[in-house]
Amino acid sequence: MNDESILFTPIRIGTIEVKNRFVRSATHDYMATQDGAVTDRQVSLYRELARRDIGLIVSGHAFVNPEGKASPFQIGAHRDEMTGGLARIADTVHEYGGFVFLQISHAGRQTKPKLTGCTPLAPSAVYEPTYDVMPRAMSGKDIINVIKDFIHAARRAKEAGFDGVQLHMAHGYLLSSFLSPHTNRRTDEWGGPLENRLRVSVDIIKGIKDLLGNGYPLIVKLNSTDLFEGGIYAEESVEAAKVLAAHGVDGIEASGGIAEGGRGTAWKGILAEEEEGYFAGNAARMKQAVSVPVFGLGGLRTFSVMERLVSDGRVDLVSMSRPFIREPKLVKKFFDGETGKSSCISCNGCFNVRGISCSELKRSGSDHRSE
Ligand SMILES: Cc1cc2nc3c(=O)[nH]c(=O)nc-3n(C[C@H](O)[C@H](O)[C@H](O)COP(=O)(O)O)c2cc1C
Repeated sequence: MNDESILFTPIRIGTIEVKNRFVRSATHDYMATQDGAVTDRQVSLYRELARRDIGLIVSGHAFVNPEGKASPFQIGAHRDEMTGGLARIADTVHEYGGFVFLQISHAGRQTKPKLTGCTPLAPSAVYEPTYDVMPRAMSGKDIINVIKDFIHAARRAKEAGFDGVQLHMAHGYLLSSFLSPHTNRRTDEWGGPLENRLRVSVDIIKGIKDLLGNGYPLIVKLNSTDLFEGGIYAEESVEAAKVLAAHGVDGIEASGGIAEGGRGTAWKGILAEEEEGYFAGNAARMKQAVSVPVFGLGGLRTFSVMERLVSDGRVDLVSMSRPFIREPKLVKKFFDGETGKSSCISCNGCFNVRGISCSELKRSGSDHRSE
């Protein structure tokens, strides 16, 4: 048993206390219906995770309106009718005493008209080469509507029993594209200085707090770098983190990358310890500037690397996505004393439109995920 490690000590995130420092970072699973409704398969996936002692589980990104859908078979939080299905996820995690947040998102310009049924939206009409999309620059009215969509998606999360929400402000999606000077070329109150580029997110945060109260946990996943010339970079994202913390967010997960940056956010081939935590350095910079918990992320695989990050005070929590696709029981394995590293090789074979799964395990014929 490994209960001496700092990784197995509790921490407060707003009004909740999670039992350890491990976070399942938001992971879209391609398992919802075409319309975004929760399926039995998804409920089983969350059961697999919830059984295994992960301190906090963040759901896959849920679209706040159909224009903001990023991907097929993505969950939706866009209509009140979705609440019943979402509640099945929250109830399942609670059965095992865990905590689960709903990540709420709008894809902005990183989507296809075929999926959304309309021209993708963005702060400015800046061509997106990976999706081959020329987005439509949003009007003031579009922006106000999207702010309301986020607020109501958060309300649905609370009604469904989620313990909190995570605002998706990363990876080039809509809120991240407002933050980025590369994609936000506006000259009105929604563009220009950082304060203006953050205004949409800040208005959403204020709206959620007005509607759901200060006590309802609200965290953000924030791009700490776009990894793209002319985009947001670490120094400015630290300033953004300070503004968000001042507006009462309860935690910040530092991520990075946008689609056209090439490397994206789930980097391939992270095998050496030195490569692990590729956004954690940026998280550590944020941690020096804010007093809310900061989540480190990006290719974390080795127990001792994660332990060091937390014990050195560089981050407060450690987030992982791909390792939990391969090994939902990873935290339990660590707790039981097997403190090596996750066997995830960061190959990205887990991205599968028929539902996430570890392609390496399948290839080797040793998929024992339900053990
Ligand atoms: C299959 C898959 C789906 C993902 N879906 C989301 C998502 O819905 N929202 C999000 O913010 N990040 C998403 N990510 C990114 C992860 O949360 C994480 O930031 C990234 O994979 C780096 O962490 P890792 O090295 O531990 O996988 C996804 C990653 C993978 C592999």
